[in-house]
Amino acid sequence: MLRLDDVRTPALLLDLDVLDANLKRMAGRARDLGVQLRPHIKTHKCIEIGERQRELGIAGITVSTLYEARVFADHGFADITWAFPVILNRIPDAAKLAERVTLRLVVDSEEGVETLEKSGHRFHLWLKVDCGYHRAGVDPQSPVALELAKRIAGSSSLQLDGILTHSGHSYHGRTRQEIRDIAEQERSVMAEFGDRLRTALGGRDFGISVGSTPAMSMVATLDGVTEARPGNYVFYDYTQVVLGSCAVSDVAVTVLASVVSAQPGTNHAVIDAGALALSKDTGSELAPGPSMGEIFADYASHTLRPDVRVVSVSQEHGTVGNSLPVGSRVRIVPNHSCLTVAHFDEYVVVRGEEVLDRWKVWRGRD
Ligand SMILES: Cc1ncc(COP(=O)(O)O)c(C=O)c1O
Repeated sequence: MLRLDDVRTPALLLDLDVLDANLKRMAGRARDLGVQLRPHIKTHKCIEIGERQRELGIAGITVSTLYEARVFADHGFADITWAFPVILNRIPDAAKLAERVTLRLVVDSEEGVETLEKSGHRFHLWLKVDCGYHRAGVDPQSPVALELAKRIAGSSSLQLDGILTHSGHSYHGRTRQEIRDIAEQERSVMAEFGDRLRTALGGRDFGISVGSTPAMSMVATLDGVTEARPGNYVFYDYTQVVLGSCAVSDVAVTVLASVVSAQPGTNHAVIDAGALALSKDTGSELAPGPSMGEIFADYASHTLRPDVRVVSVSQEHGTVGNSLPVGSRVRIVPNHSCLTVAHFDEYVVVRGEEVLDRWKVWRGRD
């Protein structure tokens, strides 16, 4: 049996028991909140993890690219929401995929609806609504919101699955209460718009989809909502620890790196995990100090080193803010697990010191 000490660096470690506990916890949370779970798989891009989520009873999956949709379709996932404002020049690709799975698209513009309608394909559509994040989505108070939804519902080719939002601003909540309030804002904005739309459509029913990991971790109720799409919860990361979504012991992915340089008379060392392992995500503005990655003092007891962290990254070099012996290894909690995973080809799946398996990260683009 291969052991952790035998793993070459840099490596992306996945703690299987922590992963399974995270999957079960969120499945239970969705059940308790009375919503279906449609997890965002852009975080893990991994068939084995998707299958574990499926065993726990998900409604389908959410993806951010057509590549992810195609890969998961090829592996038997038959109900997929592409939760990204539809890219008009990819409509023919989407139509092709929609011939073999239920593919649900997201739209928030007249141009989008018009082009989809003109294509003549029977697309399932979610209208994207802005619940306060102000990135994408129609303003639910503007007349355009109801008009677009009615236009889709009245179309002979398009099918209105429902209304969808993402509370990305939950990442900027400064306390657990502020995040809970943002989650409640997401719920109430969608439920209220849903009520008006239902009336406008003569009582017709449709789905209401929400979700981010901080909001799902802290929301008190999801009355009026039908499904949630958290993604990051499978692994969490240091940002989620700082926000209070989880504890350090819940972070399922870590980066194993080696010290490659430590010059006498300096107070830093260089590791083989830079931006192309950890990403350049600087983490939460609420973090205790600037850090590109926290380092474990002892993984088994979930203790982080107070004196050493990754202080900067260039492409392949990471710099840690203390001298460490060349050849020694560090295990790093990433700031943003989704971006970290997207830099690796595989997970090294571990339990304690044992390497159990290797799982592919499907990180292509086309
Ligand atoms: C549209 C959409 N839905 C759901 C999610 C999942 O949110 P999280 O990563 O916080 O779980 C994201 C993440 O960026 C998203 O963009």
